[in-house]
Amino acid sequence: MRIYRHEISNYRNIGHAELEFCDSVNVLFGMNGQGKTNILESIFLLSGAKSFRKSKDRDLIRNDEMVSIIKDEFEAFGRKQQIELKINDDGRRASLNRGTQGPASKLAGSFLCSVFSPEHLSLVKGAPEIRRTFMDTLLCQISPGYLASLKLYTRFLIQKNNLLKDMRSIAAAYDLIEVFDQQLAEEGYKITKMRYDLCSEIVKDYSEYYRSVSSSDEEVDFKYVSTLADSNELSVETVLKTYKENQKEDVIRGYCGAGPHRDDIYMTINGQDMRVYASQGQQRSAVLALKMTEAEYMEKKTGEKPILLLDDVLSELDSTRQDRLIEKLKGFQSVITCCDPNILKQKTITKMFEVSKGEVSECI
Ligand SMILES: Nc1ncnc2c1ncn2[C@@H]1O[C@H](COP(=O)(O)OP(=O)(O)O)[C@@H](O)[C@H]1O
Ligand SMILES: [Mg+2]
Repeated sequence: MRIYRHEISNYRNIGHAELEFCDSVNVLFGMNGQGKTNILESIFLLSGAKSFRKSKDRDLIRNDEMVSIIKDEFEAFGRKQQIELKINDDGRRASLNRGTQGPASKLAGSFLCSVFSPEHLSLVKGAPEIRRTFMDTLLCQISPGYLASLKLYTRFLIQKNNLLKDMRSIAAAYDLIEVFDQQLAEEGYKITKMRYDLCSEIVKDYSEYYRSVSSSDEEVDFKYVSTLADSNELSVETVLKTYKENQKEDVIRGYCGAGPHRDDIYMTINGQDMRVYASQGQQRSAVLALKMTEAEYMEKKTGEKPILLLDDVLSELDSTRQDRLIEKLKGFQSVITCCDPNILKQKTITKMFEVSKGEVSECI
């Protein structure tokens, strides 16, 4: 992946900006609240995912404007391509290579990127949903079938939950549960299997990256925890069995208590639960390691190096670790932000942009 040109109109505090990125490390610097993260976010949206800041689409459009447009010229999968993404009251819509407009989620897999921002620190200590979103965002980018399964799963889950509520009072509802369970189990199995595979494939790289970014000999590890079945027993049949075993409870609660919508990643440091024991610095190292691992995994699966977007990471690292990170970044095209460009003196950064009050200027 390589972005040549990134054009932004009426996006958050940015009226209009055009950035021509170099193919290595690009730095956006400026004081707080100037629009640096907004620019990274506008690049990330081209992956088809929702904003990593959990904002509503409406919040992305510049105040008092109706529509926000992001245009990008990039190279991927051996050819030059274009994306035009429009955000208005109907949501995010996009066209790839001047094709017909469709929902932005259709972009998944065409434009690959991995983002790290302070918001991601909650990956370690936050709710399980945040770790599930991490897996989902990654898998949507590398496996076309994953998003489709996720959409079907969500729809079938709503249907099953409604049926479970009906089963409290309508006897005939019991006749339908097998059909509902079957369709839910098939998608639930696929999602769980892909998440298990993902976690087992990346965990070794993650622990190596952790040592490298934290300069420590702490052992970190994680595993996928499924509410349906252990990885060696997972099949559509075992999922159906779990549903059967849980049925009584599920009817009482009125919702399905097991499935990928309830799963989590269990992360440890020196064998202990990271949610309880990780310090601020350890969380930061863990998330950064996870993001670098994510980028390499995307490359392994697709043959394309994703764009790396790193928000405000450098200031927290000492100079040795900054160097080590910048060295790693050089293998990718990256866009990184910082407040103080002085910390980058004597580092070999190829392009710098100053961001001030939503305006971007390239430093020569
Ligand atoms: N929809 C919007 N319209 C106009 N300004 C916005 C909108 N959303 C956010 N902003 C402004 O963007 C600025 C924050 O930009 P941000 O990229 O987070 O700054 P930083 O340079 O610190 O990363 C704030 O001044 C905020 O008021
Ligand atoms: Mg910021």
